[in-house]
Amino acid sequence: MVVGAVECRGFRNLAAARTPLGADVVVVHGPNGAGKTNLLEAVYFGLTGRSFRAGDDRDLIRYGEGRARVELELEGGGELLAALDRSGERRHLLSGRALSGDPGERPLVNVFHPDRLALVKAAPAHRRAHLDRLCGAIWPARADLRRRFGRTLAQRNALVARVRAGLGGAESLASWDERLAAEAEPLIAARADAVDTLAEPFSELGVRLGLDGAEVSYRPRAAGNATELATELARRRAEDLGRAYTSYGPQLDEVELRFGGRQLRRFASQGQQRLALLALLFAERAALLEAGRSAPLMLLDDVMSELDPAHRELLVSLLERGGAGGQALITATEAAQVPSTSALRIEVSEGSLANAPALRAA
Ligand SMILES: Nc1ncnc2c1ncn2[C@@H]1O[C@H](COP(=O)(O)OP(=O)(O)OP(=O)(O)O)[C@@H](O)[C@H]1O
Ligand SMILES: [Mg+2]
Repeated sequence: MVVGAVECRGFRNLAAARTPLGADVVVVHGPNGAGKTNLLEAVYFGLTGRSFRAGDDRDLIRYGEGRARVELELEGGGELLAALDRSGERRHLLSGRALSGDPGERPLVNVFHPDRLALVKAAPAHRRAHLDRLCGAIWPARADLRRRFGRTLAQRNALVARVRAGLGGAESLASWDERLAAEAEPLIAARADAVDTLAEPFSELGVRLGLDGAEVSYRPRAAGNATELATELARRRAEDLGRAYTSYGPQLDEVELRFGGRQLRRFASQGQQRLALLALLFAERAALLEAGRSAPLMLLDDVMSELDPAHRELLVSLLERGGAGGQALITATEAAQVPSTSALRIEVSEGSLANAPALRAA
């Protein structure tokens, strides 16, 4: 599924801009502060209804305006509309109707953005959340496992706090141990399966990108079937009451990224962390294709500036041979940083897009 065109109104510095995007590789180039990241963010917003930057989504409404709005034309029919106003009210529609949440209705999206390096270098919670989203994308029937487990965990933790406060007996936790274990088992299995499908492409892409011995592995904090998990939760009840939280279960899982036998998080250079994130994003694309899903749209922001020429060429070749309907948008301060002969090039300057018909301001 390819995004054929994007139209923005009141979106950051893109006051009124439209451009075609229908190509495998789209290079978005222009000087610092021109609006390149904003254009990628607009596409992400059109697809997901959210920003990919950390912070308040309302920041994406253009200064002094009341509402940001992005429309994406999908090749083969359909259009996505995302809008957000200052009161926080959102709309996200596919051809005029609310999205159903069916994963086939819109393109999936993978983002490379400096904020996303947290995935490689920050605490395990980022990797768990990311892995769970990937599980949902690969196996839509598993998309809800994280939310269900999280809800049950919050309820058990609330009960732990009550019992600690003397408002109930420790036995009252028994039924929550079972419920939590029943939600934990499929979540652990899904994470294990997802890491399994990522492992090979991640190592392979890691090696190609120069990260020898790149490995991704799942380190579950809890293992076993639901009965075994419940037994262990029961065994640790006193400990949990002492600590005031649930100390056993997939809420404490780690997804470890290594290279050459060492943790990337602790030992990789900045450039290597970037390469690891790229390898992970491409590995996810491979995993999705392997599972018969379509290739995600790749939004690659600020990736070229830190790569040496050999890595730039390699990246372009990975993008050009994305195949299977793969599409990528990549930013660069200079067009020549993306050595592709077939790419569509969009020049951004002070919030306007060249190669595109002018729009009247809204
Ligand atoms: N809500 C907003 N309204 C108007 N302008 C905004 C808003 N948010 C950010 N901007 C401005 O948009 C401009 C372009 O930002 P953007 O991050 O897209 O630049 P860029 O082309 O990616 O630059 P760089 O090469 O430095 O990454 C910046 O000057 C930024 O301050
Ligand atoms: Mg930028």
